[in-house]
Amino acid sequence: MTSSLSAPVDPLVGLDLGEGWTITAALPKAIGATGGNFSLGYLAGNVDGRKGFVKVINYGGIFRSPDPTRFMQEITEAYNFERELVQKCTSRRLSRVVLAYHHNSLPAPPAQTFPISFIIFERADGDIRGLLDDVGDLELAVRLRMVHNAASGIAQLHSIQVAHQDIKPSNLLVFNPLLDVGRAAKIGDLGRATDQQRAAIHDGYNIAGDPSYAPPEQCFGDIPTSFEQRRLACDIYQLGSLLTFVLSDVTMNALLHTFLDPSHSPRNWHGSYMDALPYVQAAHATALDELGNSFRYSVTDDMKNELIKLISCLTDPDLEQRGHRASRKANQPYALNRIVSQLDLLAHKAELRYAGATAA
Ligand SMILES: Nc1ncnc2c1ncn2[C@@H]1O[C@H](COP(=O)(O)OP(=O)(O)O)[C@@H](O)[C@H]1O
Ligand SMILES: [Mg+2]
Repeated sequence: MTSSLSAPVDPLVGLDLGEGWTITAALPKAIGATGGNFSLGYLAGNVDGRKGFVKVINYGGIFRSPDPTRFMQEITEAYNFERELVQKCTSRRLSRVVLAYHHNSLPAPPAQTFPISFIIFERADGDIRGLLDDVGDLELAVRLRMVHNAASGIAQLHSIQVAHQDIKPSNLLVFNPLLDVGRAAKIGDLGRATDQQRAAIHDGYNIAGDPSYAPPEQCFGDIPTSFEQRRLACDIYQLGSLLTFVLSDVTMNALLHTFLDPSHSPRNWHGSYMDALPYVQAAHATALDELGNSFRYSVTDDMKNELIKLISCLTDPDLEQRGHRASRKANQPYALNRIVSQLDLLAHKAELRYAGATAA
């Protein structure tokens, strides 16, 4: 009776992917490269009990593309790039970057047109955007620990000469959702990363990642020439914007947009970024004041000031000022070690407070 009403089962469900992996379910939404819908998402299980998240290249998009050869080139290059990069991260055992378990291509199954090219990742329980939607009153300690985890993941990527460039809540994957404290997060979605050792199509884009999370210099069309200023400083800004979001539910970009006069907005500005900078800095200062005033956690003034100061230096609109001050003085302006330690300490303080409050 109900079978005619239920959705048809995806033909890939049940497919044997090799090495003990079988597809168990299809995810409803296409995924891939910041809205590019380059992949289809599936869940998979292994005979050894591991759970996987599978990205299958969406060759079928070729039928809807006005430029099929270009489309094919883009999706295969995007797939090959991500595959090689996740392999590199996995072989270097980067603990805060989502692992890949397996990848391969299989011949087209019966009644299918295209081969199945896939990457199987370790499966997270969701992303931090979804988690914050579901658990609005999530403890400060948990929020800060996840941002600390994100900073560690970015630092690990930087240590192998890779910049992520698309750090945002949906790309921070969360594990262990049932525990309050003890949740951990890892960086996912390397689809828009730049690897100094391997070229990618998006390396040439003014904005490699999602434009709504891009740092202000990129929004104003400024293209710094060095890897450090163009790529590493972008990750640092996005980490600061992530911290802003996790504390306040708004990104730094949304705040800047609110406080920037429309005539000085990237859309309407025709001059250089250097000329726009004083206006962006003023909007940034107002955004930080606003953030400080609307802070909704009961933390000591010291901790609040430290958090606002940290956000301020991570998201500084001036590339010459962005990053940790001590690292800048040590001639390593975009080094993340001090930022990671500071976030660790802040998360630790919040965890102690939380433990004290729950024990009372
Ligand atoms: N390893 C994973 N485990 C669980 N969910 C994942 C995993 N990787 C991605 N997702 C989910 O799928 C979404 C899209 O995947 P992502 O790799 O970010 O592709 P894109 O943003 O390019 O579409 C993520 O925001 C997350 O919710
Ligand atoms: Mg993503």
